[in-house]
Amino acid sequence: MNNSVNEIKERLLNKKSTIGVIGLGYVGLPLAIEFARKGYQTIGFEIDAVKVDLLNRSVNYIQDIDDDLVEQVVNDKIFEATTDFSRIKECDGIFICVPTPFTPNKDPDISFIIRAAEDISANMKQGQIIILKSTTFPGTTEKYVLPILEKSGMKCGGDFYLAFSPERIDPGNKVWKTDNTPIVVGGVNEDSTELAAIMHGLVVGKIKKVSTPSIAEMEKLLENIFRSVNIALVNELAKLCDRIGINIWEVVDAASTKPFGFMPFYPGPGIGGHCILIDPYYLAWMAREHDFVTNFIQLAAEINEDMPFYVESMAIREIAKQDISLKKAKVLILGMAFKKDVDDLRHSPALKVAELLSKDNIGTIDYYDPYIPKIRIHDVEYESLPEISKVNLKDYDLTIITTNHSAFDYEMICKHSKMVVDTRNACIEIADRSNIVLLGEGR
Ligand SMILES: NC(=O)c1ccc[n+]([C@@H]2O[C@H](COP(=O)([O-])OP(=O)(O)OC[C@H]3O[C@@H](n4cnc5c(N)ncnc54)[C@H](O)[C@@H]3O)[C@@H](O)[C@H]2O)c1
Repeated sequence: MNNSVNEIKERLLNKKSTIGVIGLGYVGLPLAIEFARKGYQTIGFEIDAVKVDLLNRSVNYIQDIDDDLVEQVVNDKIFEATTDFSRIKECDGIFICVPTPFTPNKDPDISFIIRAAEDISANMKQGQIIILKSTTFPGTTEKYVLPILEKSGMKCGGDFYLAFSPERIDPGNKVWKTDNTPIVVGGVNEDSTELAAIMHGLVVGKIKKVSTPSIAEMEKLLENIFRSVNIALVNELAKLCDRIGINIWEVVDAASTKPFGFMPFYPGPGIGGHCILIDPYYLAWMAREHDFVTNFIQLAAEINEDMPFYVESMAIREIAKQDISLKKAKVLILGMAFKKDVDDLRHSPALKVAELLSKDNIGTIDYYDPYIPKIRIHDVEYESLPEISKVNLKDYDLTIITTNHSAFDYEMICKHSKMVVDTRNACIEIADRSNIVLLGEGR
């Protein structure tokens, strides 16, 4: 290690470094607040001025972060948010936590990463450590970010240090959080890996160093594609079980008793969120550049993306069994968030189910989700019902459980709904199943 690396390390360990976090969303804000909580001067950079204003008034907008903690770090002036990217010069370590969506054609859109890299490049100072955390295809750090940063005239490995370290946050998870989830770090050179590991190690318990950024980038895709493929497998089996009348949930439950070589995954109305749905397409796009088609991975993505269509067809069938036309049918969707107990609507399969029902001219579509106050379907705004009760449940011809929030009273829902389509096995404890149609049971 050369002297300047040792100096940087000393400053980090002695809490003399200022930490910058670019992108204050589900990933960036918890990370920034964690550094501030540990006593590091922290600056959050955000293009959304509304978020900056909220944070600087101590208003927290991320569910998993303690409101009091945000208030404390803002009042203590150890954390502040800004839209002024010239202040990147004040930072010794910088995390990039910006979105990596896909385009309408499902190609990667790394424009947010490019913009963040350009903002850093225009405002760099000697000795900075930059860590990209946004999920992306292998090669992004070295082929895209590195050249932009070196346009500043500085060289990686002497003037600044660069690494990729994928995020593993699982919003809503009460056990595994920023401070106790191990993190993988891969730098452009040895010093970059070492410094990035030290910097990340200040807020994370365990660090696994890998030899290149591409390994860390690919490792993240493997984690998420592993989930995508296994969820697709049970989704396909759920459809088969529907045909032959076997309960897939009981099958998975039974298979889970095997103490080795099996890990349970569950069917559902589809995959949402910002990761598992998108990542297979990032890899597929990159593979095409190398004349390689990721058939298996793409097939899994297709199966998962078909699930909202499958659930909608289950709903239409249940309405058709009643003496009512689609145009007059009243449907209640329970849960709009993409998974239980979170307030994240991104790519939610429940929203897709609602869109499909609307396209099929269902008379009334209402929804209830205590975490999602409003949605838009085909440019029409819908507000969540303020509550569900034995009175209003009776108004609907069909209730669809799309998200199994813990706050829902499933006993009441099943007792007072005419018919329930359960896509999450949320009603597993309900004894009277005469009005419950479970995805993957074959009723
Ligand atoms: N949310 C998760 O659970 C999760 C988990 C693991 C990995 N990731 C990955 O982390 C990355 C960020 O995801 P997220 O969920 O935090 O996204 P998010 O949309 O919640 O937050 C991103 C924030 O970055 C801001 N932003 C965009 N461009 C910017 C720029 N150039 N400069 C400053 N701010 C900018 C946006 O306004 C937004 O507030 C993505 O690549 C995602 O795939 C997310």
